[in-house]
Amino acid sequence: MKIRLSTLALAAATLTLGAALPAAAQDADSAVEARQSAMTLMAFNIGPLVGMARGDIEYDAELAQAAADSLVHVSMIDHGRFWVEGTHIENRDDTEALPAIWEDPEDFASKLADLRDAAGAMQEVAGDGLAALQGELRNLGGSCGACHDNYRVSDD
Ligand code: HEC
Repeated sequence: MKIRLSTLALAAATLTLGAALPAAAQDADSAVEARQSAMTLMAFNIGPLVGMARGDIEYDAELAQAAADSLVHVSMIDHGRFWVEGTHIENRDDTEALPAIWEDPEDFASKLADLRDAAGAMQEVAGDGLAALQGELRNLGGSCGACHDNYRVSDD
């Protein structure tokens, strides 16, 4: 009985260690996936706003408001665990993140703050008509672009 218990304890300890060792790598993988998912959700929600502003789809106050509300919520997600040190293009092939993020974290954080402000401003007016939506979209789209310009590999 005693032996069995200690064997079990050892097995449990080994399991715990086994799980703990690759955890950092797993955290990095899931952080990259999670931040890209958050970005995808932002793109999904800015989509109808851009479509309406350009006249590709008809202005719809309810849809515009819902998209802007969602954008605010997604932009508010805490980014603290997204940007695991070293998870950039020079170390991994599943990311477009540039090392500059970790070279100037304060500026990166300020770009995120700008996005949150712009999403909040859009939320205020998205349901108030096409002209109001168009008026805020430049600022909102600009907040995405300002960060991508410095911190994301460009498409070309
Ligand atoms: C604070 C900086 C920042 C802001 C603000 C920002 N992005 Fe990003 N975005 C990034 C970075 C960095 C990546 C690359 C992430 C990666 O590949 O790990 C990215 C990637 C993306 C991707 C690709 C996701 C994928 O699956 O690879 C999309 C789409 C995207 N962003 C859309 C947006 C939209 C839309 C906005 C504005 C509403 C926005 N982003 C605002 C930094 C930002």
